[in-house]
Amino acid sequence: MHKILANTIFLGKDLVNLTECHSTNSFAASMIKSGQFSEGTVIVAEVQTKGRGQRNNSWHAAPGLNLTFSIIFKPNYLHVDQQFDLNMAMAFGVLEVLQNIHPKIQIKWPNDFLDVNGNKLGGMLIENTISGNLFDTSIVGIGINVNQMEFPVENAISLAGITGKTFDLEWLLEQLLVSIEKQYLLLKNGSHQSIKDSYMDHLFRMGVWASYDDGEPFIGKILGVGPYGHLSIMKQNGKIQSYDFKQIKFI
Ligand code: BTN
Repeated sequence: MHKILANTIFLGKDLVNLTECHSTNSFAASMIKSGQFSEGTVIVAEVQTKGRGQRNNSWHAAPGLNLTFSIIFKPNYLHVDQQFDLNMAMAFGVLEVLQNIHPKIQIKWPNDFLDVNGNKLGGMLIENTISGNLFDTSIVGIGINVNQMEFPVENAISLAGITGKTFDLEWLLEQLLVSIEKQYLLLKNGSHQSIKDSYMDHLFRMGVWASYDDGEPFIGKILGVGPYGHLSIMKQNGKIQSYDFKQIKFI
């Protein structure tokens, strides 16, 4: 059970604690559909039976050992072509807390969190609704592997696995919400460039030659991210190409 948060301005003041649900993102979507929600509502689940990840993957987290939660925002000041700015603000908000725990944690485009060996310790699933040219609602679903030590998949790790320490989930949730709220308010106040700079400064493989697959394996160097979040990569022949999430794999 998570307590009412004292250190945020609006985030998590409405806190829905669920012992079990299919997916906190799906729960948030049904709250939005019913109209019964306020901006900053946080839904936390001890167990998700149908946790969802990116690329239609599922998200598995051992009960009671990890953080699985979703936040409902109403970023109706954001234009649709600024959608990735929200992504960057959220990713950097999470990263700041993770880096305080271990400085070598990085963001993998678009919104995974990796340790120094490339193992994944968390990810985000952001689901938006649009009204005209503006955002209406955004559900920011976050899964962080915290105290779990064994995983059914390869290349997964937790904060406990990286540091050898056990973390208090309530404490960590509060740290995350405080940091996410700070970035969200910066975004709302128009600090788009500084958010982008923070994100880019912590991006895994930024400016480094590495292996990718866009249908064919190739060596490329990440140059940056465009407004819709497309990843810009230079190939060894000097050609620069932009990719959306489904078009490229890191290998
Ligand atoms: C990914 O890396 O593929 C994204 C994982 C996102 C998982 C979180 S857990 C809380 C929220 N509810 C879900 O069903 N998914 C997100």
